[in-house]
Amino acid sequence: MTVWQDLACGCVPAAIGLWFAPDPDKADALRPRGACAHGGAMEDAAALDAADPLRSFREAFELPHGMVYLAGHSLGPVSRAVVARVAQTVQNEWGHGLVGSWNSADWIGAPQRLGAKIAPLVGARADETIVADSVSVNLFKLAGALLTAAPGRKTILVESGEFPTDMHIAQGLAGLARAKVRLAKRGALADRIDARVGVVIASHVHYRDAVVRDMAALTAQAHAAGAEIIWDLSHSVGAVEVDLAAAGARFAVGCTYKYLNGGPGSPAFLFVARDQQARLANPISGWLGHADPFAFLDRYEPAGGVQRFVSGTPPILAYAALEAALDLIAEAPAAARRAKSQALSERFLGRVLAKKRPGLQLISPIDPDRRGGHVTLKHKAAYAIVQALIVRGVIGDFRAPDAMRFAFPALTLRYSEADAAADALIEVLSTGAYRDPAFAGSAKVT
Ligand SMILES: Cc1ncc(COP(=O)(O)O)c(C=O)c1O
Repeated sequence: MTVWQDLACGCVPAAIGLWFAPDPDKADALRPRGACAHGGAMEDAAALDAADPLRSFREAFELPHGMVYLAGHSLGPVSRAVVARVAQTVQNEWGHGLVGSWNSADWIGAPQRLGAKIAPLVGARADETIVADSVSVNLFKLAGALLTAAPGRKTILVESGEFPTDMHIAQGLAGLARAKVRLAKRGALADRIDARVGVVIASHVHYRDAVVRDMAALTAQAHAAGAEIIWDLSHSVGAVEVDLAAAGARFAVGCTYKYLNGGPGSPAFLFVARDQQARLANPISGWLGHADPFAFLDRYEPAGGVQRFVSGTPPILAYAALEAALDLIAEAPAAARRAKSQALSERFLGRVLAKKRPGLQLISPIDPDRRGGHVTLKHKAAYAIVQALIVRGVIGDFRAPDAMRFAFPALTLRYSEADAAADALIEVLSTGAYRDPAFAGSAKVT
């Protein structure tokens, strides 16, 4: 296979298909786009970076010099606009405006205002999304509301191996609502929806292997069976194009600290289709979801629209960071972001998988359209490999027991960095550098 390295065109071969295609005759269909006759991406990374229509965004972010940051699926980098907006909010709005800023800076309107900025990223209308709480809490609110609205359907269906909170929230809620949690095997979610299921919780893009689910198909199957489905868009929003309206989706949640660069623990969002809002009651019926919070009434009366899913006081500094991040991302067309992210990940995989690497396996789909914003490789020494890469300035992450994830966000990554990351991984694998005892063990947060 070294023949690939000797090709006159100097291409990076598209051997992924050759190694992973179940049928070698189909390997051609799996070659990365823009591949040359040898199946390789001919273009020089520097040329691609120079011609990249999104290249100016990189300068808008604060990234440590020399670091290749591929952990945007976990925590997106901070932009200069966010740094400035938080400082301005602290100094001016909090420092000078003080309590008056709830009105003068419209702090009180932040959940809806930011929700309206999320809406175009997920194919929703401005009055269908709000920003509040965490994904976990929003899942609780929506699933709780849906179970209450369908008393005859006492089962919450989740696929096993989902992001833990999607199952854990279902388990906690089941205890309170005298409901049951049904765990479906991977790939069998649709088969397990029956007349007992009230709510299905499903990720659009899987946190582990980045598989993209067919949102329209699964939504239609759930609705046909009389169930509702809550989509977890945590790994989708900002990474892949999402169109909730076109998919017929009615409910969704998602986080903002990954591909939206909102900052560590930035508030999550929640989507309820317009025609579903009035029929649902928020089980965390806090005062800011009240129709008239400043009337200070004893009796809870829900606000008219999606506002009823707000519970308590919004953490304004976190909202300020997120708002600046959303304003920046709104400047980059979603299709261009997705196309570049796919090109980056294809380039990385083309290089890494150009040769058979013992013990290394791609567990994300080979088809970039079926993958989210990251790629996942399996290796029994995954933890140590990720540590060895970090020492080399290439930041990915590890998911127990054996997975390494690398994200390719379009606004913060260059083609040359995708190549550098691939080369670092190849070096770590081929030299066995990851076997150094310094890379053993496990940190609290991986
Ligand atoms: C699919 C998915 N859902 C939910 C979460 C986190 O939710 P929360 O905002 O409650 O921490 C994550 C975090 O990585 C996730 O990947």
